[in-house]
Amino acid sequence: MAVLEIVTPKSTNGAILRNPTKRVRVFDAALHTLLDDMVLTMREANGAGLAAPQIGLDQRISVIEWPDDPDNPEESLRRYEIINPEIVKAKGAEEGQEGCLSLPGLAADVVRATFLLVKFQDRDGKEVRLKVYDWLARIFQHEIDHLNGVLMLDRAETIYRVVENAEGEFDLIPLEEVAA
Ligand code: CO
Repeated sequence: MAVLEIVTPKSTNGAILRNPTKRVRVFDAALHTLLDDMVLTMREANGAGLAAPQIGLDQRISVIEWPDDPDNPEESLRRYEIINPEIVKAKGAEEGQEGCLSLPGLAADVVRATFLLVKFQDRDGKEVRLKVYDWLARIFQHEIDHLNGVLMLDRAETIYRVVENAEGEFDLIPLEEVAA
């Protein structure tokens, strides 16, 4: 398995983050290796989700890892491999603070639906329908946005720069104040 390089807007291929992706049609061993590499890359970067454009590929693939039980995050970590995903139904709205592996040093307040019914294919091409709630629903929306060339900045109420202070803690400074 290989840890892949994460694309940022400043990367030479950074424009790929803004491009819509293509449907996956072949579910073979190469796809399985790619999914494993994406999960490894996400873990190495301490992320909860990673989409194919973030590793320079224009394919409708994202991986997500999130605990089923917030009280036992280690034991209940679940891996989602979402290929050709579509949001069938979305309900609710809640603001929350997101980060993105392609936007290091930034955070954003984004309003997202709190419930989704999503349809996607697994690594063998089998169709899956899944209901997701709350923070996991937020991650799904963030990752599916990536597959449409949309970044959290496009939906943000407020964008923050994340700055480490003298105590080694992280302060969030709204971008308007950074610019002022
Ligand atoms: Co992201």
